[in-house]
Amino acid sequence: MEGLLATVNELQKLINLSHVKVDISLPQIVVVGAQSAGKSSVLESIIGKDFLPRGQGIVTRMPLIIQCHNNEEEFAIFQHLPDVIIKDFAKVRDEIIAETNKNAGSKKAIVGKPILLEIYSPLVVNITLVDLPGLTKNPVGDQPRNISALIEEMVLEYIKKENAIILAISPGNNDIANSDALKIARDVDPRGERTLGVITKLDIMDKGTSAISVLLGEEYPLTHGYVGVVCRSQDDINNNVSISDHLGEEAEFFSNNPDYSQIQDQAGIPYLTQRLQEILFEKLRQTLPRIKEGIDSQLEQRNRELENYGDPISENKALQQNIIIKIVDDYSRFLEEAVEGRTDKDDT
Ligand code: GDP
Ligand code: NA
Ligand code: MG
Repeated sequence: MEGLLATVNELQKLINLSHVKVDISLPQIVVVGAQSAGKSSVLESIIGKDFLPRGQGIVTRMPLIIQCHNNEEEFAIFQHLPDVIIKDFAKVRDEIIAETNKNAGSKKAIVGKPILLEIYSPLVVNITLVDLPGLTKNPVGDQPRNISALIEEMVLEYIKKENAIILAISPGNNDIANSDALKIARDVDPRGERTLGVITKLDIMDKGTSAISVLLGEEYPLTHGYVGVVCRSQDDINNNVSISDHLGEEAEFFSNNPDYSQIQDQAGIPYLTQRLQEILFEKLRQTLPRIKEGIDSQLEQRNRELENYGDPISENKALQQNIIIKIVDDYSRFLEEAVEGRTDKDDT
């Protein structure tokens, strides 16, 4: 997410300089899909850090809200443990599991109360990602009979928000017509304006089958289309294959597979990250007028305040005003160029 990282950081710096309070927080990215579709795996790969519990069956049993903060030092903090600074990300996973067991029991129950995790790292942008329990059909363990409705309600709460970007995750080894992710995404975003399709597990499809027509949008078209990915298998995880090592294997998979080599430049986790950035930039562009309005009105207010203070040193006042105006101008131009720069690149 380096492009986005640079832009959002520059914006934040300029905004801080101007002493104007403007919220440029990016939309939340929410993953939805059936249980074990690969939601946690995809989120982890996007962030590029190994810290989420994953696995077969129901693993994610509470919503996990991950607030990423760009920061020189790298550490994590849970809202429920405000005094504990965690530097070893394996401990983050342990704590998610411990907190889940504490709140939802050690069996299969789910709980709607979210776990809040803040990640500080030089590698992340100021963005919020939400990991959710997967959609299921039948109660298992100590789950109530209406488990599937409960999970659906929980998921809807997060994806119905207009500022949510929905990563609709469907495993390649299931028919797209059966995709729970696409069904629930369509319910809240019928025009697909904020939904990006992700097809996982392309590496473990039935021999002789291919997801290429789905990826090309020939079966169930989506406005923003689909990205195919290959995340780590359980075996990879058991063998401690790192996210970065696996990225190489993923790239190799797409270039060696005769069905997918035609789309190898539009597949994989790095491309998914790029597409997410593009959608986020588009959202930023849409909020540009509101941000400008906010700056204008705050600037006006500051001018009024300066006038009310009387005018002991008018030269100083003029200087201050000029500085503020320049910062606001720079900021607006910077934002416009950043957004346009991204869009130009998209077109090529
Ligand atoms: P979630 O329930 O949707 O969050 O799914 P997880 O991320 O926990 O993944 C479920 C299981 O599928 C884990 O054992 C992962 O290692 C495995 N998995 C996820 N994505 C892929 C993939 O693209 N290929 C393979 N082979 N396994 C995957
Ligand atoms: Na799972
Ligand atoms: Mg999960």
